[in-house]
Amino acid sequence: MAAEESTSTTKSTSKLSGPLLFLLLGIGIGYLITQVFLWPIFNLSSRTNLTLNITSKRDVDLYEEVRVLCFVYTKSSQHHLEAMGVFRTWGKRCNKLVFMSDKEDTEMGAINLPGNGKRIETWRKTKQALKYIYDYHLDEADWFLEADTRTYVIMENLRQMLYPYSSSMPIYFGSPGIVMSRAALRRFVDLSLPNATLCEPKDTGATMGKLRECLNNAKVMAGNSRDIKGRRRMYLIDPQARLNAYLRYDPNYWFWQYIAYRNQEGTFSWSNYPVTFHYVQNRNMFYFEYMIYRLKGFGHKLINESLPAKIVEAKEAEITAGR
Ligand SMILES: *[C@@H]1O[C@H](CO)[C@@H](O)[C@H](O)[C@H]1NC(C)=O
Ligand SMILES: *[C@@H]1O[C@H](CO)[C@@H](O)[C@H](O)[C@H]1NC(C)=O
Ligand SMILES: *[C@@H]1O[C@H](CO)[C@@H](O)[C@H](O)[C@H]1NC(C)=O
Repeated sequence: MAAEESTSTTKSTSKLSGPLLFLLLGIGIGYLITQVFLWPIFNLSSRTNLTLNITSKRDVDLYEEVRVLCFVYTKSSQHHLEAMGVFRTWGKRCNKLVFMSDKEDTEMGAINLPGNGKRIETWRKTKQALKYIYDYHLDEADWFLEADTRTYVIMENLRQMLYPYSSSMPIYFGSPGIVMSRAALRRFVDLSLPNATLCEPKDTGATMGKLRECLNNAKVMAGNSRDIKGRRRMYLIDPQARLNAYLRYDPNYWFWQYIAYRNQEGTFSWSNYPVTFHYVQNRNMFYFEYMIYRLKGFGHKLINESLPAKIVEAKEAEITAGR
């Protein structure tokens, strides 16, 4: 009986003409591809289980000692996918997470920043965001980190980088993707913003170095975000984003000759304790989570880590400018 059925199936298949077979095959493959692309959307738009949770307890946990408020630029059309990618991954390790959006969403902590959503006016957006944080959340954190939905932050390493500094020290690290102390934010809003000679008063145009200028003019120090070996910790480009060219450095390769970051010698110039990655696609957020927080190559002994020493105010002059 079963044998009979299978032979009849074979017969009907052989009756199909070539083009029709390819058509069916095409539809089948198309269906599978659609499934692959659609699943993260279905998965992420589910609004159940949105509570913040701090993953894996660490031996050294700086969560309470170095409090970081993260503010992430997004827009309402991206809430369900891109913003949710941040919310579900590194965003949950911030002491407070605020999405600067064009539509309020209390569940994920998105606020409606007036005039946000227009991509061009990023300088206006930056100023409004910092003013908002200053007005409503200044006392809720020691440090304030700016990011977008294409940024992946390793919060533990950020806290370790900031640990030596006091939040009453006016200092910032990295720009774009800046992190600044409470004192720095205070100076920006109190001194720089209202003063046209210190800070660009026009709203239009990109942020592009303007924030850096306003901070420098308000005597906020530019901290050095490199590690003790001089390796970069901030504004690293997701290795996936550039055809993996960073992973196979070749000084003669066109990529390395023409790209702005050509002197970085690939990932070899990156710290082992990186802080921020940029241009990370949404679907890679979860991939990063797995690679950083779960994946282990068997056989390594645990590294004996230690915290950097606290910097006392007298040594402030030693903090060199640069990223
Ligand atoms: C949060 O983390 C705790 C401890 O790891 C765990 O027991 C709990 O199930 C988690 N909650 C959610 C909603 O993931
Ligand atoms: C603006 O800053 C300049 C330079 O520090 C200063 O001379 C001036 O008094 C400031 N203006 C106001 C209104 O605070
Ligand atoms: C780790 O390093 C500290 C100081 O650097 C040292 O006192 C301690 O004995 C080390 N622990 C291990 C297990 O090597």
